[in-house]
Amino acid sequence: MSSERATPFRLPAGLGRSNSGIRRRLPGAQTFSRTRHQEPISAGEHAPQTHPYIGNGTKTRMSDETMKARVQTPDLRQTDVSPEKMPGHWLLARMGKRVLRPGGMELTRRLLQSLEIQSHDDVVELAPGMGVTARMTLERNPASYTAVERDESAAATVRSYLEGSSRRCIIGDASETGLDPACASVVYGEAMLSMQLPQVKSRIVREALRLLRSGGRYGIHEMCLVPDDLEADTRTAIQHELSDQIHVGVRPLTAAEWRKLLEDEGFLVQLVATAPMHLLEPKRLIKDEGLAGAIRFAWNVARHPAARHGVFRMRRIFRKWKGHLAAILLVARKP
Ligand SMILES: C[S@@+](CC[C@H](N)C(=O)[O-])C[C@H]1O[C@@H](n2cnc3c(N)ncnc32)[C@H](O)[C@@H]1O
Repeated sequence: MSSERATPFRLPAGLGRSNSGIRRRLPGAQTFSRTRHQEPISAGEHAPQTHPYIGNGTKTRMSDETMKARVQTPDLRQTDVSPEKMPGHWLLARMGKRVLRPGGMELTRRLLQSLEIQSHDDVVELAPGMGVTARMTLERNPASYTAVERDESAAATVRSYLEGSSRRCIIGDASETGLDPACASVVYGEAMLSMQLPQVKSRIVREALRLLRSGGRYGIHEMCLVPDDLEADTRTAIQHELSDQIHVGVRPLTAAEWRKLLEDEGFLVQLVATAPMHLLEPKRLIKDEGLAGAIRFAWNVARHPAARHGVFRMRRIFRKWKGHLAAILLVARKP
């Protein structure tokens, strides 16, 4: 089906785009190769079986317990990307953190509540990542669930949660999903727009509008700059420092700009809510990961000095700019 050959690895733009096939390497080496799947993977087809977050050799359909066990025992030797260079979310996931969105589970719960997903809904999730929200959505038993994720390995994890022909995860780009117009009554995406360039943000929102039927709901959960009239210099400094420390271009908007982004594409914004940007604060860690998960994460971080530096650096930036960074949730409707 898909032939493979070794190619030099480039750091992913998102959470480890196309990172499948990461090869075990000798500790201390500076580069590594990955295998590239030369044919596109079609909708519903299962992706190759390696995982950038949890190491390789992972079966596509893992049991929850296997998943947990793998996430709990990160092995930094399994990639040649040093923890200092790894995209921040990827590093956190490798250390066992499951919740990677800025407002944590609280804002995610609020998002799902506001989207009012019911059994007659056709849901599209853009960029499901580790599939944490996917599982919560599936508990609501929608008529259909389609995830669009560009990372093959993340898609493999999401697929491990899906059963039946009406639930699928396709490899694709959120700005051009290839799905039919008006195929959904609900579309949402978390922690995936902030990292996009301005024109790509617009394209993704436009795609969400295209996918929705009239009256359909669209939800986003992203990083936000405060206040709305933030000085340009401060904004530039925040963006540079975040991108520098997280190793992914981070381009958050103010609340007014997020609203405008959605309205410019034709959405009617119905709800805006914010939460503090406490992704790496102990209280939020326990709330999001549970006590055992938070302890496990802390233990993993403590055991890997290079990862520890990366995680602490990220937290320092979040703390430094805490007066100007927040998490935001917007829910909008297609007229
Ligand atoms: C920070 S993670 C967030 C994952 C998940 N939504 C969450 O909140 O836990 C970003 C995810 O977005 C995916 N992603 C980024 N840009 C994308 C795009 N244009 N199309 C599809 N997936 C994308 C990445 O592969 C990664 O899984």
